[in-house]
Amino acid sequence: MNNVAAVILAAGEGTRMKSSLPKVLHTVCGKPMIQLLIDTMQSIGIEKIVAIVGHRADLVEKGLKHVECVKQEHLLGTGDAVLKAKKMLLKDKRIDSVLISYGDVCLLRPETLKRLIERHSATSSSCTLLTSHLKNPTGYGRIVRNDNDKITKIVEEIDSSIYEKVIEEINVGVYCFNKDTLFEALSKIRPNNKKKEFYLTDAIEIMARSGKVMDSISTDDPDEFLGVNTRHDLINAERVLRSRIIDEVMQKGVSVIDPANTYIEPGVDIKKDSVIYPYTFIENGVKIGPGCSVGPFARLRRGTCLDSDVSIGNFVEIVRSRIGSHTKIRHQCYIGDTKIGKRVNIGAGAIVANYDGKHKNITIIEDDAFIGTGTILVAPVKIGKGAVTGAGSVVTKNHNVPAGKTVVGVPARILKKKK
Ligand code: UD1
Ligand code: MG
Repeated sequence: MNNVAAVILAAGEGTRMKSSLPKVLHTVCGKPMIQLLIDTMQSIGIEKIVAIVGHRADLVEKGLKHVECVKQEHLLGTGDAVLKAKKMLLKDKRIDSVLISYGDVCLLRPETLKRLIERHSATSSSCTLLTSHLKNPTGYGRIVRNDNDKITKIVEEIDSSIYEKVIEEINVGVYCFNKDTLFEALSKIRPNNKKKEFYLTDAIEIMARSGKVMDSISTDDPDEFLGVNTRHDLINAERVLRSRIIDEVMQKGVSVIDPANTYIEPGVDIKKDSVIYPYTFIENGVKIGPGCSVGPFARLRRGTCLDSDVSIGNFVEIVRSRIGSHTKIRHQCYIGDTKIGKRVNIGAGAIVANYDGKHKNITIIEDDAFIGTGTILVAPVKIGKGAVTGAGSVVTKNHNVPAGKTVVGVPARILKKKK
């Protein structure tokens, strides 16, 4: 989709969050809100994304990948914010349409964005709006239509008349514009409103007056346009997204025993017939093969990959590690930067000491090894195929255990068999 560029407005401070972090960098299910929106846009094939940044711009810019940022020095309104992208978008001749969204609407579904863009390109409208109907539209811009049901303008709550206040159709804040018409209209907007701001929404009235056609599609899912303004909204967004993720996971044939108490971030891949027990946290990018059992109270952090039929039990934390099929790690363990083979048993309370204060070091545990209860493996270290460590042993760094051998004690030494 290289004829559509997206503009995300993210220059605001988000004062109601009462935070030193810019609002759009607050996370929902482990991801910054603005990144969730960017992921959604990229998932439908939008390549060019421009973010308008202002408050703590450096911090916002630093966290974003594959996005061009433009600074809005003074927050003069949403119309002024979009104008900041004018130069960048006009010089890109491939682009004929501009999708605009606010940075804090992080729960938009890809299907809805796609529907909006498809509708826009199928008609000859100058702007296609995403609208919704709310019994209580307080706070939103209202969509004003004429007797022929054509959109004539958007009026903001604070500037609206008593007749306009009762309109239930609201401006979600997501639009698809014809590029040239958009910038032509934006050059004409004036801050003639109570807030003395340059409103993006005034572009609609300017276009309608000059005979341009406005179109809309609507969504009836209020979660989709939940704009996060407060910590309370943030928790609501978290609840909605988490339940969407868990629904998707279950549709792929995974059992989640207690969805309300399971935390799965976006971008987790879990294969069928795996079972996730309550109070389990699974971070972005984790991969879980088929037939695995995880939890209760397990924490699988970034870079964890479980092959098939792996069993992870309570109070087990794993990070940046690969666990081979049929391996069991069932009770109170920490495994970091480790590659574990097939059919390995890791006893209760075993710990991989991967960090020496300066570096994270690698541990390898080969197939069929048996790591005794309370073993400490000080990385870098390798436990050979079928090797055994005794309960409470401390295998010190670089003291690799050869295949088939048993080590015991502190520091661990090879147990010699009696003649
Ligand atoms: C806006 C819409 C309103 C819509 C509502 C949906 C306008 C004038 N009104 O109102 O019709 O119903 O969203 O939630 O657009 N921003 C900038 N620079 C600025 C001002 C704002 O980047 O100078 C960004 C903010 O960071 C925010 C977004 O634009 O992400 C929306 O601004 P906000 O002031 O919250 O607009 P609303 O009053 O909510
Ligand atoms: Mg807002």
